[in-house]
Amino acid sequence: MNTFDRVVMGGLLLFAVSSAFAAEGQKVFSQGGQNPAAMACMSCHGPDGMGMAAAGFPRLAGLPAAYLSKQLNDFRNGSRKNPIMEPLAKALSDDEITAVTTLLAARPAPPAGDLRRQQMASDPVEALALYGDWSRQIPGCVQCHGPGGGGLGQHFPPLAHQPASYLSAQLNAWRDGSRQNDPDQLMAGVAKAMTDAEVKAIAAYFASAASQEGK
Ligand code: HEC
Ligand code: HEC
Repeated sequence: MNTFDRVVMGGLLLFAVSSAFAAEGQKVFSQGGQNPAAMACMSCHGPDGMGMAAAGFPRLAGLPAAYLSKQLNDFRNGSRKNPIMEPLAKALSDDEITAVTTLLAARPAPPAGDLRRQQMASDPVEALALYGDWSRQIPGCVQCHGPGGGGLGQHFPPLAHQPASYLSAQLNAWRDGSRQNDPDQLMAGVAKAMTDAEVKAIAAYFASAASQEGK
């Protein structure tokens, strides 16, 4: 083999490996993993990975791969509790987790609004989202979750385009201790400082079209 052949062969091999990897991610998503307990993701998270708002199943499409695989590992190690996802995450292999989270992260994320801290808030709920409440040590949600709650980097997940019932369930899980997987208890502190009414209202706010279109 001359150098040219070797480069071509290397490229073909890389292509074969990466397309086999993409195929594995697609298989886990639409048919499930090797272990039958690792059920197909799309049956609950939707055929496009956009979630099912009526059932409170979250969207996974366009979420960062590092965040998604962290959540699956947290369901495995018990720092995040859920009767459906705990056994399911335990049934996935490490390779299946890498493949399916890479596939999901590559899906296009729906656009979020451009609501930032510099903007005027039109009501107390929007004020909490944009600026927080320093008298209770709550920073504005968009400070970590990005403009419009669209997500930021690999570790701050989007709040926009998630079902309101899912968002409030997560805030309540931090309040009652069934979700304890946040770095430095950032979210536990935020959620515990909020009232029941604020949890409901902020979840509805980020799930609503208004937060996503901006003003
Ligand atoms: C039978 C329904 C069901 C199936 C099948 C399912 N999920 Fe889930 N998934 C859920 C529910 C319900 C939640 C919300 C759990 C909670 O409230 O903490 C969830 C949450 C998640 C989360 C956390 C999302 C976030 O924003 O933090 C990830 C990641 C996830 N699922 C990945 C998967 C993957 C990957 C598959 C396929 C291998 C899968 N799920 C299959 C029901 C399901
Ligand atoms: C100091 C940074 C920070 C601030 C401020 C913050 N968050 Fe978070 N939030 C995080 C991190 C980090 C995570 C992911 C934790 C993990 O790894 O599971 C998260 C996760 C969440 C989740 C779970 C999302 C999912 O897909 O499961 C919700 C809901 C949430 N935050 C709501 C809020 C709301 C509402 C506010 C404002 C009142 C807020 N956050 C303010 C850092 C922050």
